[in-house]
Amino acid sequence: MSYEFSITRNPNPKPKPDPNTLVFGQVFTDHMFVMDYDEGKGWHDGRIVPYGDIQISPASSVLHYAQMMFEGMKAYRTEDGHVQLFRPEMNARRLNRTNERMCMPQMDEDLFVAAVKAVVKQDADWVPNAPFTSLYVRPFIIADDPALGVKSAKHFRFMVILCPSGPYYAANRGKLSTTRIFVEDEFIRAAHGGTGYAKVGGNYAGSLRASQKAHEVDCNDVLWLDAIEHKYVEEVGSSNAFFVMDDEVITAPLAGTILPGITRDSVLTLLRDWGIRASERKISIDDVVAAAKSGKLKEAFASGTAAVISPMGVLRYLGKEYTISNREVGTLSQKLYDTITGIQTGKIADPHGWIQRVV
Ligand SMILES: Cc1ncc(COP(=O)(O)O)c(C=O)c1O
Repeated sequence: MSYEFSITRNPNPKPKPDPNTLVFGQVFTDHMFVMDYDEGKGWHDGRIVPYGDIQISPASSVLHYAQMMFEGMKAYRTEDGHVQLFRPEMNARRLNRTNERMCMPQMDEDLFVAAVKAVVKQDADWVPNAPFTSLYVRPFIIADDPALGVKSAKHFRFMVILCPSGPYYAANRGKLSTTRIFVEDEFIRAAHGGTGYAKVGGNYAGSLRASQKAHEVDCNDVLWLDAIEHKYVEEVGSSNAFFVMDDEVITAPLAGTILPGITRDSVLTLLRDWGIRASERKISIDDVVAAAKSGKLKEAFASGTAAVISPMGVLRYLGKEYTISNREVGTLSQKLYDTITGIQTGKIADPHGWIQRVV
């Protein structure tokens, strides 16, 4: 199915930032995508308009009860100048799973992908080409019924905004380096039956206090433990967590409390392609710490759209620090990083059909 969207060009395009000094998510492009949903009418009036502030009623349900969702993905520039997306249909599927949980309307997967492609195409000259840079794509939906009752809204707005981005962790400018990870033993991120598997703002608002604690002890991110026993490792900040123990690579199962990462799925696929044993199973923080002490823990890394693969060098748990892989980037982490970014930027073959070209 093909979709038509109207385009209102920005009469005042901004100068592009220096690609070598970009940080994550602070500069926005010239255009954005907007589409409305009304009960009985469905999604309608998809349009590309100049990027700018939006008007919203102070009574909008998103502002009071956080009925909203978001997605995150990237557009990459290839060496021969094309612009492409990585598995956007997976973001569309995840959006619908989130929307189902949040009583928000489903969206045709093709419509989602067409909207993202249309706005990325409009601002294609904003996709940077310096190493470690890309165009971050942030689709989101807000409930904007101007009514204070606690009930699902009847009107929603879908938008896509874009930002040229540098490395997620400032230290990663120019090369991959390891992170210091704070294991959170007090606060929790998600419980069974909650919204952990959905990409909703509330999950992130509730995580900020733990991030603050992590930064106070010079850690880059938080490793969450399960909500019941504070024992099993779940995920890291806005990424999934992997532990390489002897010949097995372990990541938490998709049991409702962690976000089903698209990078996580890609890592599992690649590991299995390479004949490496990849297990989706529970693993306790005590086992991870014991393995770090004994040297059985060969590598640990986080996977996500923002940083792709982010090797962990130190785990800080209950005030003690445990070193992993001598704080060096492990061979498997580097190979996964090189392979995924290679596919994303068209430098290496794409055997699974993960790439969708925009221009
Ligand atoms: C909580 C959380 N876990 C995991 C991920 C990784 O998901 P993906 O690989 O799709 O970026 C993200 C980022 O979207 C996230 O916010």
